[in-house]
Amino acid sequence: MTRKQGMIAGIGSLVRLLRGRPRIPSSLVDNPLLQVILNRRSVRSFTARPIPEDVFAAILEAGRLAPSTVNLQTWAFAVFDAEMWRQTFGQSIPFRGSRAVIVVADTYRDRQVLDAFPHSPLVEHTVAVMNASLAAMNMNVAAEALGVSSVMLSETGRSGLLDAKYLKDKLGLPESTVPLMTIVFGYARGPYPPMPPKLPEEQIFFEGQYRPPDQETMKDWLSQMVAGYKASHLRSSFESQLKVYQNKIGQAEADLHEMIFHGKDRS
Ligand SMILES: Cc1cc2nc3c(=O)[nH]c(=O)nc-3n(C[C@H](O)[C@H](O)[C@H](O)COP(=O)(O)O)c2cc1C
Repeated sequence: MTRKQGMIAGIGSLVRLLRGRPRIPSSLVDNPLLQVILNRRSVRSFTARPIPEDVFAAILEAGRLAPSTVNLQTWAFAVFDAEMWRQTFGQSIPFRGSRAVIVVADTYRDRQVLDAFPHSPLVEHTVAVMNASLAAMNMNVAAEALGVSSVMLSETGRSGLLDAKYLKDKLGLPESTVPLMTIVFGYARGPYPPMPPKLPEEQIFFEGQYRPPDQETMKDWLSQMVAGYKASHLRSSFESQLKVYQNKIGQAEADLHEMIFHGKDRS
């Protein structure tokens, strides 16, 4: 590729990526909820400032009142302050957050009174994960609206799905429960990180039939992810982080299969 061709390709990729930036109709830029949702970032560095009790209570309440399939509320939340986390896991809350919530997909509770999913563990699990994830996002957005930052974790610090068995043992969780993620809450240290590359709308939305992804946009997105990761993680790289995931995924897959299907063959 000549220098000129390289420059044209570079400009092309920049234009494609800029299409992923937030787009808000000018009539709505002042909408406070929209601002909260669009300005939210995953924050991974927190100050020591504690979260006031009433603020944290409101965040939990946003989780409790989230929507769910047939109002089954298939979730449980393990709630921690720094001391409780240390007692349970022998270390600080990841990124030294002030509070943490482990979000658990839970159909055990409903099963006490209702067999909503007879012989359908995959549907049961999927429904529970859907609902618990929505509750997690409700807490995350409520936190942001109250000036509290957060990050959801499924791997970092043995905090979620990839260490589900470890968490299940630590928390004494019964069958029909699966820990999904930890949400770490706190006050952000310093400015928010830049928005990581989000896919442009034409890659995401379609009307009628599924639209095949544009290969060039997908390649640009991946290279931006790799470059962004490099810029924000001095001692790690996107590839090495992916390897950490891949090393744990095999065991996590086996553990989750056991938790969801209780050793029964799906067929
Ligand atoms: C379910 C879930 C699990 C995640 N797990 C981790 C994690 O283990 N470690 C981490 O640093 N970030 C984790 N994240 C944060 C993502 O990396 C982050 O949401 C993504 O890069 C997009 O950035 P943004 O949240 O600032 O838009 C997780 C996010 C979600 C929704």
